[in-house]
Parts: sequence; C-alpha cells; structure tokens
Amino acid sequence: MIPESFVQELLARIDIVDVIERYVPLRKAGANYSACCPFHSEKTPSFTVSPSKQFYHCFGCGAHGSAIGFLMQHAGIGFIEAVEDLASAAGMQVPHEERNAAIRAKKAPLTELMARAMHFYREQLKTAPKAVDYLKNRGLTGEIAARFGLGYAPADWQALQQTFADYNDPALVECGLVIVNEQGRRYDRFRDRVMFPILDQRGNVIGFGGRVIGHSKEANADGTSVGPKYLNSPETPLFEKGRELYGLTQARQAIRDTDTVIVVEGYMDVVALAQHGVGNAVATLGTACTPTHVHKLLRQASKVVFCFDGDAAGRKAAWRALEASLEQLSDDKSAGFLFLPPEHDPDSFVRAEGAETFRRLVAHPTTLTEFLLRELKTDVDLASAEGRARLVHEAKPHLTRLAAPILRVQLVKAVAEASALTQAEVETQCGLKPAARGRPAPPRTRQRPTPSSVEYKLLQIVLHKPEWAARLPLELINVERPEGQALSAIADAIDHGEMPAGGFGLLLEFFRNTPHEALIAAIAANMVEEVDLGALEAMFNDSVVRLRHTALTAEIEQLTARARQGLNPEERQRLAELLAKKRPAAPSTSGPPI
Ligand code: UTP
Ligand code: MN
Repeated sequence: MIPESFVQELLARIDIVDVIERYVPLRKAGANYSACCPFHSEKTPSFTVSPSKQFYHCFGCGAHGSAIGFLMQHAGIGFIEAVEDLASAAGMQVPHEERNAAIRAKKAPLTELMARAMHFYREQLKTAPKAVDYLKNRGLTGEIAARFGLGYAPADWQALQQTFADYNDPALVECGLVIVNEQGRRYDRFRDRVMFPILDQRGNVIGFGGRVIGHSKEANADGTSVGPKYLNSPETPLFEKGRELYGLTQARQAIRDTDTVIVVEGYMDVVALAQHGVGNAVATLGTACTPTHVHKLLRQASKVVFCFDGDAAGRKAAWRALEASLEQLSDDKSAGFLFLPPEHDPDSFVRAEGAETFRRLVAHPTTLTEFLLRELKTDVDLASAEGRARLVHEAKPHLTRLAAPILRVQLVKAVAEASALTQAEVETQCGLKPAARGRPAPPRTRQRPTPSSVEYKLLQIVLHKPEWAARLPLELINVERPEGQALSAIADAIDHGEMPAGGFGLLLEFFRNTPHEALIAAIAANMVEEVDLGALEAMFNDSVVRLRHTALTAEIEQLTARARQGLNPEERQRLAELLAKKRPAAPSTSGPPI
C-alpha cells in the first residue's frame, strides 16, 4: 500500500500537462489544452486537459482522470506502477512497505544491465552479415528490426565481457545473461543467436529470446549442439513469463486504433505481422496463455483474437486460451479464435496471403461460444441421451466460470439446444442461477443516483469547489442517496483537514476505491469546462435554499397532517414559525447567504 498522503503530495508536485505531453502532443486551447484522444481514433481533437483542475477528459470517448489515471490507462499499468513512475520522474521516493522497497531496489540495476545488453546485441548486429542476411531473408526491413530492437549475440563464449567491465558481477547471472557452470566457469547464455528483446509495459528490457540462425538441428563447428531453436531468458526478478507478452509496447498504438489485440505464438509472428502493417499482434513467451495475460490485454482492447497455428498444438493452445479467458470476459469484451490452415503460422500466412486477407480473417474469428461448443461436441454422440447428458456435464465447469452474464445465457441456450433440454433444465443441472425471465427485479439495496436531486446538483458544484462543502447544512442532506453520501464524505474530509487542494484530479484520486468513486467519475464529464465562479456560487446558494425549503415543507406537511388529532402548544408555535419562514423564501437566486 502506498499512503494516501503520498499520492496527494505527488499529484500536487507534478503537472498533468507535463505528464500527458510526454505521450501526446498538446495544443493550448483557452485555459485548457487539447489533442486528438490517445484512447480512441479521431480526426478532430476532443481530448482536453485542464491544468487548473489537474484533470483530463475526452468528450468523444469519455476517458478521464488524474495524471495517475492517465498513465494507468495509457501504459496499461496498475495504480502502484503508475505512482512509482510519476514519483521517479519527479525525483520522489515512494514510501513502500519494506518488502516492496527491497524488490524495487533490486530490480533497478538489473533493468540497467538488460538495457545495456540490448544495446550491445544491437551494435553486434551491424557487424554480423550472417544475422542481417537471415533477417532479410525472412522479409524484415531495417526499420522493423530497429523497432523491435533486434540484435545479434556473437558466437563467443564471453562476448558480453566487451560491454560489462565486471563480467563476474552476480547480477549478470541473476538477470539471466550469464550462466555459471558446475566448475564455476562463467559464459554467455546467448551465443550466435538473433536476439529479440522482451520489454515490459514501461519499455524496460526484462528478458530476451534468442533464435538460432538457420536450423536448430545443425551443430556448432566443435560438434556441440546449437541447442533449441529459441532460447529464452529464465524467470528472473524482472521476468515472469506468465505475465509478460512479447511486442506489447510496440503494439500499443495499433491496439488502440483497432480496439483489437491479436495473440500469436511466436516472436517471428509478431515481427512479421508488424512488417506487413498488422501492428496489433503480441505473443505469449513460449508458455500457454494465462488469465493474467488475458486480463492485461482486455484492459487495452475490447477484442482479443487468438491466432494459433493450424496444427494440433495450435488447437491445444487455443483451448488453453479459451480457458484463460472465461473468467476475464465481460459482456462488452470478446475473445475470438482464428485457425490458420495447418501448413501455416501467422508469419508464413501473412507473407503468402497478404495483410488484407489476414485482417479480414481477424475481423471475423470463430467466437468463443462456437469454439467451446464445437470442442465439447467432438467426443460426444448427440444422437444418444447419454451423449447429450455428457455434453451438459462437460459444459458445466465452463459455464460456471464464464464471467459475462449475457454471454453465459447465450451459451446456456446453445447447450440446451444441443442437448435437447430446456434452458432452465441446463441451468439447474449446472447449478447456475436461473436467468430472471419476466420476474420483477429484486429490490435494489443500494439506491441509484438521481440527477434531478438537489444533492446531485450540489455534488456537481462542490466538485468544482470542494471547500464549499464545509458550508453545507449536512443535517438536511439525504444520505440515503449516493450523491448525498458523496457530499457528506467530501464535507467529512474537509472537516478532518484531509481534502486535497489542487484540482479535481486530486479529488478523484482521493476517492479511488471508495463507494463514491463511480459517481464522482460519472460527474467528471463536465469538469473540464471552466465555470464562472460567481454563477457557480449563486447556484450553490440556490441549491442550499432549495434544500432548506424542501426540509421546511416536509416538516410543515408532517405537522399539518397531525394537526387533525390536535397539536400541543409547542407544536402549534413551531408550525406558525415554519409557515412564516416559508412565505418569503421561495427558492430564488437571491436567497439569503448561508
Ligand atoms: P515455433 O516453433 O512455432 O516458432 O515456436 P516460430 O515462431 O514459428 O519460429 P520461426 O518462424 O521458426 O522462427 C513458437 C514460440 O514458441 C517458443 C518461442 O516463444 C517461439 O516464438 N519456443 C519455440 C521456445 O521457447 N523454444 C523453442 O525451442 C521453440
Ligand atoms: Mn514461424
């Protein structure tokens, strides 16, 4: 956990305009800055950054947030990572729990070593015609090789000595560049290979894949085997294969433009697709696709298309990907599957058939439902009752894991049809809650916000000027309403001196992971427009008058209703006072100051 106070201090120290400008060219437009939105494709700029509010908002796609939110969304990284990035750029030290601090302190020099190694391998490529020819023969241009930082590890046992003064540094072993054998002799892990650097989402080099030049069946001059076709960095403090994806950094813009990410199996598939203009492909790193991978990808695009080789291994990989996707999907996100002809992988396919054909296939993949049903049906005999029962039995674990409710209903329907059962029967057999059909929805425990309420209006105003919350008659605020709760939370924070001053972006961070987060974010849409303070204050006062007026009316109604049974003298007195108060004070902009 990072202390909230640090987050606020950080946001107060940095300027969102500087942060965003590092990634998106901004143009001054009045008090704000504008740009074409980096989060969706557009030709006219609707992305706005407000320096006074330390907040960004896109009128086109609704993206918005603080500097931290921007980095999270733009780099697809988590909150902690984003805070760390901003802090290090601002020269601030994130106060972490000790464990994290230890890990971080360890990681930093390792990434420096890896970056240095990448640089060395890239330099070596320039003087290795054999490797250059190999890449050229595979159809790659220098431009693409540079984009992916491709390099060459020389055939020597200790080539890295040329770039690392201290070849005995244990850190070189720790980051997987150097191996120590049983006799204690040190040598380079990667020798005579084309090198593919693996980057994390911030662009740090965290690992390498190295491919033999030519065939892995060949032997070295001294008769030793050249080893496997691809050699990868081992798991190190920097590199965890189940989390990382090859090519994600390079693919980010294309993923955004197409709202689709293509997952392939191989390094060369990613690079060859990029060479042909299909930039939105990434690869798992010689491991099966994990739920973490899918989660990461669905944060950046709403469509993931798995494109595996057309052989049996490819099918198996696709099935693993399906299983990894079930719990990650929501109804606005989809996973599709593309099966290439058995003789092809994406690299050979795009070279043989061209990018257009490949894109067309990606646009219409086999859906998750189709693929799942097709696989489930392969080994069952649907002509027999036993076979149909088995289908339901096999479908059950997948149905229960599928996180997208509407998609699940679709799948239930399809399974029901194939097994000659009703939808309700499949649901019962699979232990699923039956979908509500025509029945009234259960009463909501949590109320929805009511945009027409006074509290809502006040919340909108107070988000511009949080300090005004201190002036609110809190006893009159309806805290049954979520907007009332948010208001009183803001007033509370001010009371305790916790409310950050310095713009709406800070306030948004302050309420991250609280029940008020969603509502405050929803109101955010209007936040970048500069408002006239005088008018805002008049609106505020007017709303408070309305609040008092409503409370007054309610009390009058209550007393009048009881008047029939007779009121005691005190109550009569109160009613008279209330009626007198009400007469002159119909809500108007000229209401009394509060
Ligand atoms: P493939 O054998 O399909 O290789 O392995 P490829 O990508 O088509 O390679 P080219 O076209 O012959 O160059 C797919 C992926 O599996 C991992 C690598 O990540 C590779 O990109 N792999 C493969 C290994 O890790 N080690 C190996 O020996 C082979
Ligand atoms: Mn290949």
